[in-house]
Amino acid sequence: MTLDNRSTSQRRNLTDEALIQEVLESFSHAESPRFQAIMQALIRHLHDFLREVNLTECEWHQAITFLTNTGQISTEKRQEFILLSDTLGASMQVIGMNNKKADGATEATVFGPFYVKDSPHYQNGDDIANGAPGDPCFVEGSVCALDGSPIPGALIEIWQADEDGLYDVQKPSLSAAAARGQLLTDAEGRFYFRTVSPEPYPIPSDGPVGDLLRAARRSPMRPAHIHFRIQAAGYETVTTHVFKAGDPYIDSDAVFGVKDSLIAQFHRVEHGHAPDGTRLSEPFWTMQYDFVLMPSATHER
Ligand SMILES: [Fe+2]
Repeated sequence: MTLDNRSTSQRRNLTDEALIQEVLESFSHAESPRFQAIMQALIRHLHDFLREVNLTECEWHQAITFLTNTGQISTEKRQEFILLSDTLGASMQVIGMNNKKADGATEATVFGPFYVKDSPHYQNGDDIANGAPGDPCFVEGSVCALDGSPIPGALIEIWQADEDGLYDVQKPSLSAAAARGQLLTDAEGRFYFRTVSPEPYPIPSDGPVGDLLRAARRSPMRPAHIHFRIQAAGYETVTTHVFKAGDPYIDSDAVFGVKDSLIAQFHRVEHGHAPDGTRLSEPFWTMQYDFVLMPSATHER
């Protein structure tokens, strides 16, 4: 790659407007037209923003400090930039633009900061809670195509918060995954597993994004949900949640991710025979949800 420092004008004594044009021009020799278009649009909007609010030097320094802190607190398990994207609605905007679904297909929602690759493998009927605290919850459903035909062998990844409102990755004392796992649909496209009932939870608020929410007097709460990511050969991967109907935060999700089609009834049973045939003397929950996948436009991802 060669660097190209050509400029169509002298880069000195720039007025405010000439500065923007010069910065735009500095991206005009980019190798990738897409990169050029994205960066030039970013520059235009950034400078418009700076000028619209007449940003002070102190405020710009605050912004740089905020982004620095966001980076410094981030790790593989603490994804502060994802939280920032989620709480600014950017995640849902990008998801909305890139996941136009046909009627009947399962809608996508935020990926969130708590996904972990290579979660434990389970069989249908297993308890994926693996010790996570909470009321038992028996989940079952199916994965099918738009025409209703079942999709056997679909890979379903599941992750959720427990009754403490925490994901396993937020509990440093845990050495194994809990309330997290993956399994395959059976020959009829069905899946079923035991877990714990999800609870509403606050997104992590002990970092810069928490400061942002407090400054805005915004709630950090998310309504109770279970995350699902479903992949099958020949179909579009869908990353989504199933939300608990009646949750007090269902209409005030801190990350704007709720859709009507993703709300399901979680039925509470005081005691008795669970769907897996066991008899429980404690309260438990059941939830049923059917996922519908879009055909892949190209090939499996
Ligand atoms: Fe979540």
